[in-house]
Amino acid sequence: MRALIINRYGGPEELQLTNLAMPRTAPGEVLVRIHAAGINPVDYKIRNGSMKFFTGKKFPKILGGDIAGEVEQADKKSDYKPGDKVFAMLSMKGGGYAEFISVKESQLCPIPEGVSMKEAAATPLAALTALQAFRKGGEIRQGDQVLVNGASGGVGSFAVQIAKAMGARVTAVASLRNQDFVYSLGADKVIDYGREDFTQTGERYDKVFDAVAKSSFPRCSRILKKGGIYVTTVPNRGLFWHASINFLRGKKAAFIMARPSGDDLRIIADWMSRGLVRPYVQQSFLLPEGPRAHELIESERVRGKIVFHIL
Ligand SMILES: NC(=O)c1ccc[n+]([C@@H]2O[C@H](COP(=O)([O-])OP(=O)(O)OC[C@H]3O[C@@H](n4cnc5c(N)ncnc54)[C@H](OP(=O)(O)O)[C@@H]3O)[C@@H](O)[C@H]2O)c1
Repeated sequence: MRALIINRYGGPEELQLTNLAMPRTAPGEVLVRIHAAGINPVDYKIRNGSMKFFTGKKFPKILGGDIAGEVEQADKKSDYKPGDKVFAMLSMKGGGYAEFISVKESQLCPIPEGVSMKEAAATPLAALTALQAFRKGGEIRQGDQVLVNGASGGVGSFAVQIAKAMGARVTAVASLRNQDFVYSLGADKVIDYGREDFTQTGERYDKVFDAVAKSSFPRCSRILKKGGIYVTTVPNRGLFWHASINFLRGKKAAFIMARPSGDDLRIIADWMSRGLVRPYVQQSFLLPEGPRAHELIESERVRGKIVFHIL
């Protein structure tokens, strides 16, 4: 099968298209023919070696944490059969930038009617991050005030829609060029971070989700209501220190580490089928265009998501 691999850590030019043996399917796994694969910032962080503590020294590596495709082969006991359309967030091992992958059945979810392969591939990792982040400190309740920083990005664009689907009033933070886009996602109010500091508006929130991790708990704590929580996607030492003393304070700090879950993806798929959550795909690339796709994701300027179109 064709796969986009790296043989060592480094720049975008390390991504190479090659032929590899088909993946083996272990018990409890389903072989999927990949039609589209999501591209996430974690992919470039793995590629450049920033995460080698977790990803080790074994090469070649196939990057990619999101897939959408069709079941090629499944066990007789499986809930899936060949031809079923499925999507999944993969484990940290990756494997999405390829034509086939063997996926744990517990990570898979059927693609809702009317959702394209590219849209499906754009969804799992970013949407699961937002959903699981909003559970920190308790589920969102109807009318809760939620602020999403980085609302135009992959995680943020899902976070705005998911918080609305959960009944929150959402304030989104995005640059001037992305104001209309973020309103189109359903935000009640949008703050242009180029003109206004969202920590100085006098508003208070039940949850502040720093989807792009550009702020900090000390800055955001002043805009949290009593009992409110700040959740970030990228931790620093300060965050862990603040989180360790949450029990002493009314306002909490937390870090979300998204995990694959077919069950959580079913919640998102249900919102997608009801038109409450819709991925926005800015651009798609072919596998040979891997380096260009990585330059774009590394720029931190993507609106919504980018994906590989594989089949
Ligand atoms: N811990 C986890 O499990 C987990 C899971 C997913 C992602 N992450 C991390 O979360 C971060 C965000 O991921 P992502 O997929 O959302 O990234 P992304 O899609 O690449 O984010 C790009 C977006 O961020 C906006 N942006 C850039 N600087 C900003 C700022 N200072 N304030 C507000 N918005 C800003 C950009 O809009 P403008 O160009 O208009 O500013 C762009 O739309 C990454 O670091 C990623 O690695 C962690």
